[in-house]
Amino acid sequence: MNQIETASSTDLEHSPVGELVHSHATGAQWLSRYSSSLLGVFGTPQRVLVRGAGCLVWDADGKEYLDLLGGIAVNALGHAHPFVTSVISSQLATLGHVSNFFTSPTQIALAEKLLGLTKAPAGSKVFFANSGTEAVEAAFKLARRNAGTSHDGAAESAAENTDKQRTKIIALEGAFHGRTMGALALTAKEAYRAPFAPLPGGVVHIPFGDIEALRAAVDSTTAAVFLEPIQGEAGVRPLPPGYLKAAREATSAAGALLILDEVQTGIGRTGKWLASEDAGIVPDAVTLAKGLGGGFPIGALVTFGAETSALLTAGQHGTTFGGNPVATAAALATLHVLENQDVLAHVRAVGEHLRAGLAGIGGVTEVRGEGLLIGFDLDADVAPGVVAAGLDAGFIVNSPGPRTIRLAPPLILTTGQADSFLAALPALLTTAKDAQ
Ligand SMILES: Cc1ncc(COP(=O)(O)O)c(C=O)c1O
Repeated sequence: MNQIETASSTDLEHSPVGELVHSHATGAQWLSRYSSSLLGVFGTPQRVLVRGAGCLVWDADGKEYLDLLGGIAVNALGHAHPFVTSVISSQLATLGHVSNFFTSPTQIALAEKLLGLTKAPAGSKVFFANSGTEAVEAAFKLARRNAGTSHDGAAESAAENTDKQRTKIIALEGAFHGRTMGALALTAKEAYRAPFAPLPGGVVHIPFGDIEALRAAVDSTTAAVFLEPIQGEAGVRPLPPGYLKAAREATSAAGALLILDEVQTGIGRTGKWLASEDAGIVPDAVTLAKGLGGGFPIGALVTFGAETSALLTAGQHGTTFGGNPVATAAALATLHVLENQDVLAHVRAVGEHLRAGLAGIGGVTEVRGEGLLIGFDLDADVAPGVVAAGLDAGFIVNSPGPRTIRLAPPLILTTGQADSFLAALPALLTTAKDAQ
C-alpha cells in the first residue's frame, strides 16, 4: 500500500477549502445547495458569510456588515483576531488532539486560569466540554449526583443518592439552557420541548424573578436550582436585585446546588468575568461556553469547592473532544487579550454608551442588559422587520421576540461602530413599520 503523504502539501489555493474561499458563487447559489444538503433545523440562513475581520463580516455577494450579534455572543474578539488565530494555528501545528486518556499543558493551564477568574474556592475543579449545552449536561449530571451535600458541613455521601430522594431540579420560566435532552429539560420554551417528550424528569419551572416562588419551591427533595443571571434568549432579562442572594440562601438551607448558567453572560460579556460576580454569593457550579474560545468551540463546567467537585467521579462523565489542546489554546489566547488589553473596561464603557443612545431613540420603549449584552423593546411587533432592514443596511442584529432586539457584538466594538448603528436605527424602524 502506498504511504499516505504527511509532508505539507502547501498548495492551499487549490485545496478543497482554498477553492471555496476563492469561489465566485453567489449567496443565492450557496443557499440552494444549503437547502438540499443541510438538515432544516435552522430554517433558511439569513446570509452566506465568507470572511470577517474585527467587527465586520462580508457575504458571498461582497456586501459588508457590522456584526452586532458576534455569532450570538461568541466572537469576543471579533473575527479573525490575529493573536487568537496565530495561537490556534501554532497549537494545531504542534499537537491538535489527544483524547482524555491524556492531558496537555493548555488544558491544565486553562483550568487553572478559569478557577482564578471565577474566584473559585480551594478544591474547585473544571470539566471541559465542546459547547454550552454540553456544559449544561455535565451540570445536570452533577445535580443528579447531589444527595444533599451541604454547605453547612452535614455531608451525606453522593452514593446515597441512589435512593433518588432529591429528584427535583428547578429552573425558571423563560430559561434557555440548550437543546440536548438534559439541557432541553431545563429550557422552558414549550415549542422546543414538546416534540421531544418525554424529557429527563424532575424539572420544574417557576415564575421568573419571583423570590417567594423560589423559596416555596426549594425543599429537601431539590437537587439543584439552575439560573441564568441574565436570560439571553428570553430577550436579555436580568434577574432582579437580591434574587441570586435569596437563591443562595434557599439552596444552602435545603442542601441543593445553586448552578449558574453563564454560557451567554460569562467571560466579559457584561463587562465582568461573570455576570454574577458582584451578587455577593458563591455558587456551587458555573457553566461557560460561547465567548470562552473567542469563536473556537469550547464549553466548561466549573464546580465550586471540594465537596461539589467530588460529586462526579472517574467514569461518570466524559467526552472525546472536550478540553482538546486547540480549543484550550484558543481560550487561553482569548482570555490573554481580554485581560491584557483591559477589554472588560471597554465593554462597560461602550455598553453604557450604546444603551444610553438606544434609550433616546423614538420607538424604543425599554433598554435592558449589562456591558455588551443588550436587549431593547420596540413599540410594535416589528423586530423581525428590523432584523431584515438591518441586513439590507449592513447591520447584523437578532430578534429573540416579536418586539425585542438583542445585541451581543464582539467585545471590541468601537464607540464609532456603536454610533453608526444608533444613527441607522430610526430608519430601520421606519422601514420595518412601513413593511408591516
Ligand atoms: C444560557 C445558555 N445556556 C446554554 C446555551 C447552549 O449553548 P450552545 O448553543 O453552545 O449549546 C445557550 C445558548 O444560547 C445559552 O444562552
